[in-house]
Amino acid sequence: MKERIEELLNEIEAFTANSIEHVEEFRIKILSKKGKVTELFDDFKSVAPEMRKEVGQKLNDLKNKAQDKINQLKEKFEDVADKKDESIDLTLPAENIAVGSRHPLSLVRNQIAEIFSRIGFTVSDGPEIEDDWHNFTALNTPADHPARDMQDTFYISENPDVVLRTQTSSVQVHIMEGTQPPIRTISPGRVYRNEAISARAHCQFHQVEGLYIDKKVSFADLKQTLMYFAKEMFGEETKIRLRPSYFPFTEISAEMDISCTLCEGKGCNVCKYSGWLEIMGCGMVDPAVLENCKIDSKVYSGFAFGMGVERITQIKYRVKDLRLYFENDVRFLKQFKSVI
Ligand code: DAH
Repeated sequence: MKERIEELLNEIEAFTANSIEHVEEFRIKILSKKGKVTELFDDFKSVAPEMRKEVGQKLNDLKNKAQDKINQLKEKFEDVADKKDESIDLTLPAENIAVGSRHPLSLVRNQIAEIFSRIGFTVSDGPEIEDDWHNFTALNTPADHPARDMQDTFYISENPDVVLRTQTSSVQVHIMEGTQPPIRTISPGRVYRNEAISARAHCQFHQVEGLYIDKKVSFADLKQTLMYFAKEMFGEETKIRLRPSYFPFTEISAEMDISCTLCEGKGCNVCKYSGWLEIMGCGMVDPAVLENCKIDSKVYSGFAFGMGVERITQIKYRVKDLRLYFENDVRFLKQFKSVI
């Protein structure tokens, strides 16, 4: 018995480990239920009574030594693991911080504002929750106009006088009511219409309204202003054309097309082989609208225009599906690099 104890003691003292797993293996071999020390304790029964005190002591020593040795080794490996965690390589390059990019609609809206600011237009703002007067009545839109239909307009609560604005033309009214000419401003903002959401229609979108009121403002001024805008936005070679149209708040009214940016007017599937892309409505502010806003239509005249920001963005970046603008999928958004 004494010899076996001695042998095991030597084995324990001589043991070296190369990993924490190795220490655990050793613990199982020595101290577990079927381990060598436990085996010796089991055999203790057969030790002669006069030897028991001495052998018992030796056995206890052996067990304590084994336990100490294992604890020491474990601590050593745990220390090494801790140190590994702490060792930071300061020479490594820092991780990239992903800064967001501007939303394409914001990029285009900012660019529109920047282009018009160069020729003296300010930027103005108005409420998205409107009353009937600002969204419709003051803009010469009669009560039976289809735009007022429940199908097109979101009405707020039970009150038919409160709507989500369907157009930023409502801001024109606020401005004219609050300021006497000269007025030269654009009003970017979100508008709402009760449309089923699809690739080509959405219940919310963005417009930029333009308004210029002064003495002797003519249609030629309108045309020149819009031509300047089209060339700044889409390139020097861009051509424009104005087609007669109808809007309740302008007289005369027109729609403006630009030469197709893809085929330069030759005809392709983007412009449906017409060579032209429609980008906005415009016209001379109807004298009745000026009068509604307490501006003397005998002294002042002006023009207005309105364009969809999604439409301009679609042409500029060739994004066909309107829904992409509202999904906020970063894989889509990060393709747009901020210039402004
Ligand atoms: N408000 C019109 C719309 O939502 C766009 C528009 C057309 C605005 C002609 C104007 C304008 O100022 O003169 O379709």
